[in-house]
Amino acid sequence: MTRNGIIALVAGVAVAIAAGIWISGLVISNVENRDAPASAEARVGGPFTLVNEAGETVTEADFRGRYMLIYFGFTFCPDVCPTELQVMASAIEALGARGENIAPVFITIDPERDTPDVMARYVALFHPRLTGLTGTPEQVGAAAKAWHVFYRKVADDGSSEDYTMDHSSIVFLMGPDGEYLKLFAPGTSPDKMAEGIAEFL
Ligand code: NI
Repeated sequence: MTRNGIIALVAGVAVAIAAGIWISGLVISNVENRDAPASAEARVGGPFTLVNEAGETVTEADFRGRYMLIYFGFTFCPDVCPTELQVMASAIEALGARGENIAPVFITIDPERDTPDVMARYVALFHPRLTGLTGTPEQVGAAAKAWHVFYRKVADDGSSEDYTMDHSSIVFLMGPDGEYLKLFAPGTSPDKMAEGIAEFL
């Protein structure tokens, strides 16, 4: 093969590779387009209407401009919820001044027992800025659905309470525009959570 032949071959291969990348780019973007409705459904978070510890209605708009660290649970929870709320509080404290624009939020999935008064006493145990949100069963159900949080009432024969709640245990980080940023699995350490939050600050 002549030198020009080799150059032509190399150029041809380069064009073919570039075309391949371009075509696969189209295919990928088509796949992304096709998946768009599905990922819209899988979106985490969204508008909500709930009730704070003072009995006032609050919505996502009240948190615009601040990061939200959200956890869904219930005040009668014997161990998992208090542990996660403590981890959230420790993570925010570990961030020092950088953590000041984070609003920790506890949303109950047991609005029947978690009235605004009950929430007020409970959140005060964890962090001075922790907001406790409750609401009607419908309001709570809509918020839980938006964050894909599962919960259900189960009979609790081993306790003086009539029932307990099964529920997802995930901490969500939302950005200043209400956009979903990250989630933390159960058992995340305060340091790991602080690190994960710091990536976005
Ligand atoms: Ni719990």
